[in-house]
Amino acid sequence: MKRLVLVVLLAVSLHALANDYVYKAGHPSLQEWLLPKDVPTPKDNPLTPAKVELGKMLFFDPRLSGDGNMSCASCHSPLFGWSDGQKTARGHKSMVLGRASPVVVNTGYNDIQMWDGREKTLEDQSIGPMRNTAEMNMDIPKLIDFLSESEYKEHFEEAFPGEPIGVEQIAKALASFERTIVSRDSPFDNWVRGDENALTAQQIRGFALFVDPDKGNCAVCHSAPNFTDNGFHNLGLASFGEENPDLGRYTQRPLRLMKGAFKTPTIRDITLSAPYFHDGSAETLMEVVEHYAIGGVVKENRSPNMKTLNLSQQEKEDIVAFMESLTTPPKAFVLPILPL
Ligand code: HEC
Ligand code: HEC
Repeated sequence: MKRLVLVVLLAVSLHALANDYVYKAGHPSLQEWLLPKDVPTPKDNPLTPAKVELGKMLFFDPRLSGDGNMSCASCHSPLFGWSDGQKTARGHKSMVLGRASPVVVNTGYNDIQMWDGREKTLEDQSIGPMRNTAEMNMDIPKLIDFLSESEYKEHFEEAFPGEPIGVEQIAKALASFERTIVSRDSPFDNWVRGDENALTAQQIRGFALFVDPDKGNCAVCHSAPNFTDNGFHNLGLASFGEENPDLGRYTQRPLRLMKGAFKTPTIRDITLSAPYFHDGSAETLMEVVEHYAIGGVVKENRSPNMKTLNLSQQEKEDIVAFMESLTTPPKAFVLPILPL
């Protein structure tokens, strides 16, 4: 009995917490949504301009792939909000891969990487796609030979004085560049900072629905400040009901709840990277909201936070309008000149 009371109390207090916002530009209650100005960096890889510049060249260089035709940017392109505009990624020899290319926007703020969380840091992540035969299919010793014999040599010397050119340095440079791909100046951010005119009345309504546990219930998972809890959830996507579905997080952590669970992505800059979900199954943000509104398609092993939502058509449109306010106006992006 005591336990029940405690649970009820806890539920009530969580509920109160989520509703504690005052929907006024600049209000103190909203400040938790602002991202820290500096992206966290590991102690052994502080951010320097030389590393960022080198990492940018490597990121855009197709010579990092076995066939010389695929760079990181083939799948994570600034033209498509740092994804690729495809339902799921196309790899080596245009092979269709099983999962969508996630955006690399704000990944530096997250403490776990990949749809299934199999990598922790951007450094750990970055060599994977080069080695992966289904992706860039690169022979790493051959790559290091190339980098050591080309003009890259000087750029490595500048970024990592006195160090050899190796996998560790490539990884650190790529991670440093990725930490500069940041979205934290959207109309929503400006509103949180105090600009009353940054959001429309509809977008503010959408935000209120987004955080309300009895309406959109979105912020339980897309939580402050980066719109992610860095957690894994099964959303009941139709693809989970197919034969041999992608088990997602379960492949790394064999717990029943993790079957078909995928990482909560940030939704900053979300207007730039359709289609959506790890299987590319939603073409528009409205389709995403419709999926949540019915509590998902496949009910088996679904997250307890997926439930049928009580949302009118107008309210769904408000939530979409709110998500549209999360895009930082794109600045001109200067492509690197690659060393010969
Ligand atoms: C063939 C397309 C392709 C290429 C090329 C590619 N990626 Fe990816 N990337 C993906 C896919 C697909 C995933 C998700 C895979 C998964 O979760 O199983 C991913 C995941 C990531 C993530 C994790 C993001 C997150 O939110 O979890 C980062 C960071 C990343 N890639 C960076 C890179 C870098 C750096 C390179 C170049 C060295 C690269 N990618 C090359 C398709 C690609
Ligand atoms: C139970 C946790 C949870 C709740 C509740 C939730 N989301 Fe998500 N969201 C996720 C996860 C996990 C994914 C990725 C799932 C996948 O692809 O399998 C996701 C994906 C998305 C995407 C696509 C992102 C991309 O890059 O493909 C959008 C947009 C989104 N959610 C918006 C919302 C909105 C709006 C709501 C409320 C109506 C909401 N979410 C409620 C966890 C949640």
